[in-house]
Amino acid sequence: MTDVQSAQHLTLSSYVSSSHSARVILELKQVTKIFRTTQGLLPIIDRLDLEARSGELVAIVGPSGCGKSSLLNMIAGLDQPSSGSISVQGCEQSRLGKVGYMLQRDLLVPWRTAVGNAASGLEIQGVPRKVARVRAKELLLRFGLAGFEDAYPHALSGGMRQRVAFARSALASGDLLLLDEPFGALDALTRLSLHRWLLDTWRSLGKTGVLVTHDPEEAILLADRVSVLSPRPAHVCFELEVDLPYPRDISITATSRFAALHAQLRAVLLEEEGPMLYGPV
Ligand SMILES: Nc1ncnc2c1ncn2[C@@H]1O[C@H](COP(=O)(O)OP(=O)(O)OP(=O)(O)O)[C@@H](O)[C@H]1O
Ligand SMILES: [Mg+2]
Repeated sequence: MTDVQSAQHLTLSSYVSSSHSARVILELKQVTKIFRTTQGLLPIIDRLDLEARSGELVAIVGPSGCGKSSLLNMIAGLDQPSSGSISVQGCEQSRLGKVGYMLQRDLLVPWRTAVGNAASGLEIQGVPRKVARVRAKELLLRFGLAGFEDAYPHALSGGMRQRVAFARSALASGDLLLLDEPFGALDALTRLSLHRWLLDTWRSLGKTGVLVTHDPEEAILLADRVSVLSPRPAHVCFELEVDLPYPRDISITATSRFAALHAQLRAVLLEEEGPMLYGPV
């Protein structure tokens, strides 16, 4: 066994033995996805298993193009697996509308104010406009956007726009929230401030989340568990339980436990990518 394999073994066994009894909100079993392209069949995901329990934030990291966004699309119900099953709160059918989905780009509509954008998901679900706006406003205040409720997107900073988009997704969903690299397009300082903000607010939202990120540090800081995907066709090749205490604060990144988890995850990611990316040593 290599060091990484024994670390994998240890981590997986400790995960299994410590897995708590919270109810399963999201369950993927043996999910396979094959796209038909003009060049032929393109296998993207291969017999992937994944689970998220109530209140958990599960991070997914993996190489670019391995199928992370395709996976979230299927969980959201926008696409279907070629085989295998996906269930949200025990139900395989009609995931559409039960899941909040936040994309990398905020996709706010320019003709609606912050509160109008945040309320739009609720309105689509048929919630009366006034009620939707009251709920949206309340969440924007909790997200530190007091005074900006009536601003249009062009007058908001990148971090503010992401918080409005987050509010829209959080309001529109049931218990499950999918986040596809929500902080990927932001500069380092804004990302740091959104990390702090998410650490402060996540638990109080009472959601279960799946966070796709390219950043191992972000994954460990924010998540309860990290699932590493293999290159395409992707499956979960490693799971890391993040046994850092709550409430978490940015300062936890300076602890030796954080450094150990980070080193472990980086070693797995480097091994997954293989030596070819960096050329012969
Ligand atoms: N509808 C589609 N039809 C055919 N191929 C697709 C389709 N959607 C995605 N792909 C291909 O599937 C692969 C995985 O795409 P996907 O966007 O899921 O990757 P990703 O892991 O999210 O990448 P990134 O980290 O760069 O965001 C890519 O090769 C992409 O070109
Ligand atoms: Mg993607």
